[in-house]
Order: sequence, then C-alpha cells, then structure tokens
Amino acid sequence: MANSMSKLVIAIDGPVGSGKSTVARRVARLLDYLYVDTGAMYRAVALKAQRQGIALDSNDEMTGLAAGAKIGVRLRGSRNGRGQSILLDGEDVSAAIRVVEVAEAASKIAVLPGVREVLVSVQRQAGAEGGVVMEGRDIGSVVFPGANLKIFLTAPVEVRARRRWKEYLRAGKTISFEEMINVVQERDRRDSERETSPLIRAADGVFIDSSAMESEEVARTIAMLARTKGGDPAPLG
Ligand code: DC
Repeated sequence: MANSMSKLVIAIDGPVGSGKSTVARRVARLLDYLYVDTGAMYRAVALKAQRQGIALDSNDEMTGLAAGAKIGVRLRGSRNGRGQSILLDGEDVSAAIRVVEVAEAASKIAVLPGVREVLVSVQRQAGAEGGVVMEGRDIGSVVFPGANLKIFLTAPVEVRARRRWKEYLRAGKTISFEEMINVVQERDRRDSERETSPLIRAADGVFIDSSAMESEEVARTIAMLARTKGGDPAPLG
C-alpha cells in the first residue's frame, strides 16, 4: 500500500548530454514513479513558435504562445517513462521536437522569463502529488526548491559532446566532432548564463559525474538515495 513517505519529488538537473533523460527514466522505472521531461516542454513551445513564424526573442509574443499551448503527456502502457508521447495541442510531437533546429530554438526561448513562468507552473502541477522524477535545468533550484532529493548530473564537455555526436550520426546527420563540441559549449553558455533560472547546482544537490558510471549504475545510486529519504521501501529489483 502506498504511503505518503513513498511519494517523493526527485529533481535531476544537468547540462546537455549529461545523460539526464536516460537516468531519470530509469530511476522512475526503478521506483515506479512518474517521469517528467521538462526539456520536452520547452521544445514543444519552440516547435509551435517555429510553425507560427513567431520571433523567438519576443518575450510578450512567446509568453502568450506558451500560455495558449496545451502541452501534455500521453502515457503508453505505463506511467513511468517506458513509453511517453509529448502532445502539443493534441498532436503527438514526440519525433518533431527531437530535431536539431527545435533544440536550438528551445534553448533560445528558454531565456524568456514569461515562457519560463508558464512552463514552471505546468511542471509544478505535474509534480504536485509527488512520486515523480523530473529532469531539466532548474528543477531543484526553481520548480521544486523543496524537492526531497536533488541530483546534479554532469560530465566533462568532451564526453557530453561525444554522446550527442553519436546520436546525431545515428540519426544520419553529418556534423564533425569539433563542431559538436562548439554546439554543446554554446548550449552550456546559454543555459548557464541566462538571467532567469540559469543551470546551477542547488546548494543541497548531489553532484554525480555520469562519465564515471554506466547510466544503470547512476540510476540505481539515485534510487538508493531516494530510499534513504523514505522513498518506496521495496527492495531493488
Ligand atoms: O534537455 P533538452 O535538450 O531537451 O532541453 C531543451 C532546452 O530547454 C535546453 O536548451 C534548455 C532548456 N530547458 C530549460 O531551460 N529548463 C528546463 N527545465 C529544461 C530545459
């Protein structure tokens, strides 16, 4: 039987290519928690802006667009990340948001305070009941400063660029490794130097370098930490 102690909020923040998504999904699976990918929400708003030809640097227009966008998650079979579709105004945009142009656009609109305000509110609602693993850049610092467990996941820039580079090559995109390092550094700069909710490690965040462990091991470590905080008492499977 579920008790209140088993419904933690787990925040996982980190830069591009840190392995957050893979790890967060696995943690959700281990604990049978809901997985929430907040980057996908920024991407969905960016996609909508691109389609409507709205200037990505206009706070007012972009905030209106974000407020009017219906962003949802459709769970496929299970609640914990095994299968999720991202919905934008009822349309499944899971594949459409995973392209380079949308990632770039998302990084641009993520600097706008109005857009962040709208999405932070959606994210707080999604995690209001606990039992959630939420990943992004500002989850432990802004969205859930009171999260039960905060993880800051990172890795050296070369490692993160290599991961992204392999993903690009697998997707049939041509980009050199050197270019990829530049892309990652530029994304890091934009995410870390923006005025509103920059990517920072929360004071009480647990720092994990994902280049030292396999993602499964990182996920098990986080799930174990969750158990020490009173999360799901079931033994590790
Ligand atoms: O994690 P991702 O690549 O899907 O994120 C896309 C962009 O959205 C990224 O440039 C940073 C931004 N983002 C953010 O500012 N805050 C979040 N909580 C999540 C993502």
